[in-house]
Amino acid sequence: MIVLGIETSCDETAAALVDGERGIRANLVRSQLDQHAPHGGVVPEIAARAHLEHLDHLIERALGEARLGFGDLAGVAATGGPGLIGGVIVGVMTAKAIAAARRLPFLAVNHLEAHALTQRLTGELEFPYLLLLVSGGHCQLLSVEGVGKYRRYGTTVDDAAGEAFDKVAKLLGLDYPGGPAVERAAKSGDARRFELPRPMKGRAGCDFSFSGLKTAVRHAVAALSDPISAKDRDDMAASFQAAVAEVLEDRSTRAMERFAGEHPDAKSPAFVVAGGVAANQSLRARLAKAAEKRGFRFLCPPPDLCTDNAAMVAWAGVERLRLGLTDGLDFAPRPRWPLEELRG
Ligand code: KG4
Ligand code: ZN
Repeated sequence: MIVLGIETSCDETAAALVDGERGIRANLVRSQLDQHAPHGGVVPEIAARAHLEHLDHLIERALGEARLGFGDLAGVAATGGPGLIGGVIVGVMTAKAIAAARRLPFLAVNHLEAHALTQRLTGELEFPYLLLLVSGGHCQLLSVEGVGKYRRYGTTVDDAAGEAFDKVAKLLGLDYPGGPAVERAAKSGDARRFELPRPMKGRAGCDFSFSGLKTAVRHAVAALSDPISAKDRDDMAASFQAAVAEVLEDRSTRAMERFAGEHPDAKSPAFVVAGGVAANQSLRARLAKAAEKRGFRFLCPPPDLCTDNAAMVAWAGVERLRLGLTDGLDFAPRPRWPLEELRG
């Protein structure tokens, strides 16, 4: 069962082919970074046009690499939202056109579900499991009960974690996207140099907040020399990253307690971390330790499957196709699409 996956919801144009035995036959990502970097963030109009320009060639190349043709496909999956609507429309229309021309099932994949199911593409993993989804647009803790079945434990009340990384990078004069740049700078920095807040730490529930942390960094940077020295920059990056790590650990620990209480039969439950921010080695290490301490197996996809890609979309397509959860060609792309609204 081979499914073509298409991802166009942000600034990565991606096409992949995945089979029902977890085989990734092709997985191509074309980043638009160089086009957005001068603007310090993703420009939706530029993104949509770039997806339109490159998607068909990318699909052709993916099929070529996998030595497959449209006739070998069992279905076509595209991210149907949430995301920048211009880009989502490009991906969805392309998938629908292929599905219509080849009389194939069409699958509109929720981008968050694609991240949430990625760990099942990389290996055996039973439902239910606890998921921390940390990306540029989202920061959520969820109980994953099945395909299309999610219960949200907590979410951010303001910025997403990746967004905070990107904004702090900008304040520190680092390149977009901020996550990898902040992580690199933090490696040679002193995490104890700046005292930054740990928003929500110790609070009941599993919600997050990052805007206060970003503001604290802005004030601290304003008090330094302009332009800031390399040492100041590295120390600030390290201090910020440590604060994020501590908050993610605190919130995840609460979620583990709740999950364990709700699933008393789960002997060695899994704690899965997914999304672009999960590519951060220092955050991963910290969360892995916290999970181990509470009897959870820590799982995290490899970095290239954490950041946006189409293999995860194709895999979500495989999972949904198996359950007969196909979509009609009248599916309307969705800029907002909370996981709780999914069909399972
Ligand atoms: O999942 P993703 O590729 O796109 C969204 O769906 O948002 O996540 C992108 C986000 C960006 O905010 C980026 O700065 C962040 O993930 N990110 C990182 C790292 N690599 C990417 N954040 C922290 N450390 C990293 N190494
Ligand atoms: Zn994503």
